This record gives sequence, structure tokens and C-alpha cells, in this order.
Amino acid sequence: MCLSKKDIDIPYIRVKEKTNKAKYEFLRRFYTIWNQITKTRSRVIIDTHAGSGLVELEKNRNLYNKNERQLIYGSPLIAILKTLKISKNLKIILNEGNNTRYSLLKECINEFKEQGIPIFKKIDDELYFKSLETKRKKKLKKKPDYKFPETPNAKCPSGYQEIRENTNAEIIIYNEKIENIIDQILHDHLGDSLEELKPIALFLVDPCGVVGWNDVIKKICNRSNKNQGTEVILNWSWDAINRNLNNDSKNKVLSTIYGIEEDTICKEFNGFTQMNEFLDKYIAQLKKYFKYVIHVGVEKDRLLKPKRSDYKKYVLILCTNNQSALSLGGYNVRMIKKKMRDGHLDIEKFAKSVSTQ
Ligand SMILES: C[S@@+](CC[C@H](N)C(=O)[O-])C[C@H]1O[C@@H](n2cnc3c(N)ncnc32)[C@H](O)[C@@H]1O
Repeated sequence: MCLSKKDIDIPYIRVKEKTNKAKYEFLRRFYTIWNQITKTRSRVIIDTHAGSGLVELEKNRNLYNKNERQLIYGSPLIAILKTLKISKNLKIILNEGNNTRYSLLKECINEFKEQGIPIFKKIDDELYFKSLETKRKKKLKKKPDYKFPETPNAKCPSGYQEIRENTNAEIIIYNEKIENIIDQILHDHLGDSLEELKPIALFLVDPCGVVGWNDVIKKICNRSNKNQGTEVILNWSWDAINRNLNNDSKNKVLSTIYGIEEDTICKEFNGFTQMNEFLDKYIAQLKKYFKYVIHVGVEKDRLLKPKRSDYKKYVLILCTNNQSALSLGGYNVRMIKKKMRDGHLDIEKFAKSVSTQ
């Protein structure tokens, strides 16, 4: 299958415009600058719930233009693309638990490894100058200008040519439930390093549902140990909690998410009904391991006229011990604000929380 002619009828993960504008825009910006800042050290990106590689974006649904769909790069490919030019000393670890999505992801990564990933390079007129020393004509060296598309089907902008480039990053893919492989990942890629400085690690935990505190999150948090060098971007799903609040599975789900004994859940969550109560408790747990924990809520996409509502689908949480990663997170969110149609209120709150840390 040709990279640039991927078929939309393949069962890729589906996302909506808000997710593209919030989560993916955040990742595009954060990965790029994080990679520039950390390039002098060995570093590892760990995408614990990597998905299908490409994702199907449902665009601006409205009365006249229903279900317009487009394939865009999901988190694993954003990681590869946004580190493409500085990919020495970098490992990208991708784990996906679902077999079908894992196969799609693997197929995509293999194609990129074989053919390179398409990017656009500016076509420059060649300029020459006469050297004062040798009096010979010399070519003027200019920094190349690249554009990194968000989709494999992107059209080459005028004045640019499509080229294919390969990453120097080592890409390792696992097909496991993350709870069964996290110990091995931490041990093999982040723990017993012979280097004096352990690699810097950026975790993306994007489960779209429940992820166990004791099985996964606490293990990642333990790695941070209040030192710089571990960052976590976590997609905290309010939906996953909310849909269980009125049924028998409530205590079990909360026990898994918060790592709290099932028989103490009633006491611990006594009177909790609002998202912010649950979120604050979760953030308090993360703050035991990270100096800075900041978040931004992403509202549900609404069909037709979106109503202003406090109802959130998920919350992106950034955990870091590093002041510059914190500023970087805040800066990115301020930029994303421009792209979000609504949800300004939350972004505003987020930016404020960053500036007052
Ligand atoms: C929200 S999607 C990930 C999307 C991807 N990060 C992206 O942005 O392109 C969540 C993925 O986690 C996978 N998943 C669910 N439970 C898992 C588990 N316990 N371990 C590993 N993967 C899991 C699902 O199959 C799904 O593909």
C-alpha cells in the first residue's frame, strides 16, 4: 500500500476535530520543542497506548457537510515526524494492546522505515558569491526550510518539493497490555542504563478509558522521583469515570484508577459528584511525585451549535519537575487557544495556572 494513498475504509481510530485541535496540536508542539531542548542527552519517548498510527479525523460536522473524513497522523507518527531532524540518541517506544490496531501501526511504521516519511522542502534558487580570499565563485549555504505535514495525503505547497526522510531514532513496537509490559519497558529502556545520566523520558499515556494507578501510573511516577528528566502527558478520561458512577462497577473502577482499596472507596469519595472533585483528587496523587502538574479540559464535540457547557470529555494533564517543560506546556496551550473554537475558559485557566506556579 502506498503511504500517500492510504485507504480511509481501514479500521483506524476515529477522532473528532476537538481532539485534533487540542491533543494532537499539543503533541505536535510539545514533541518538537521538547526534542530540541533535550537533544544533547539520550532520550526516550514512550507511547503506552499508541493506537493505529494513522487516525481518521471527522471534520466539522454540520447540516450541510456531514461526516467529512480525513486521515491524519496519530501520536506515534507525530513523535516520529516531529523529531525527524534531530533523531540521534532517541528511542521511540510504541505499545498497542489491540491486535488489529497493532497490525495497522506496524504496517505504517514498516512503510515509513522502508520508504521514509514524506515531508516538504523549500525549493531555493541557488545563490553564489565571490570569495574575497580565493576569488572563486562559491555557493551560498542557506538553512533548508521544511514543512511537516499533518496527514499522509497532504498536497505539496507551491515552492516546495516532496522528499522522503528516514528517522535515526530506534523505533520499538510492542503488542501487549501496558500493565503486562511496563516493568520490562522501564527496565530495558530506562532503568539499568550504563550511562551516568539516565535517559530523559517522555511518557504519553493516552488510554481513552481506565488506566490502573498501581499497575501503570505509579510505576511511571516512581521513575520521576522529583528529579528532572521524566515528563508525563496523560489523557485523563472523565467519561471513563462518569459512565460508571451510577452502576455496580463504580467502586471497582475508582479503585483501579486511583489505586485505592475497594472497601474504602465510599469513604474516600464521599459526596463526590462533579468532575473537578475527582480530578483534584487525581492531581493531588500526581503531585506527590511531580513538582508541577497542570491540566486543560477538552470539551465534548457537539453536533450542530455547540452549547457552552462544563461537560468535559477528557483532560490533558502534564506532569513535570522541570521549569522549562512547564513553561513550554503553558506556551503551547496558549497557542492552541487560538485554534480552539470554544473551550477558551479552560485554556485561560490553564495558562493562568502556569504563570502563577
Ligand atoms: C485513545 S487510543 C490511542 C490513540 C493514540 N495515542 C493516538 O493519539 O493516535 C487508545 C488505545 O489504547 C489501546 N488500549 C486500550 N487498553 C490498553 C491496554 N491495557 N494496553 C495497551 N493498549 C491499550 C486501545 O486499543 C487504543 O488503540
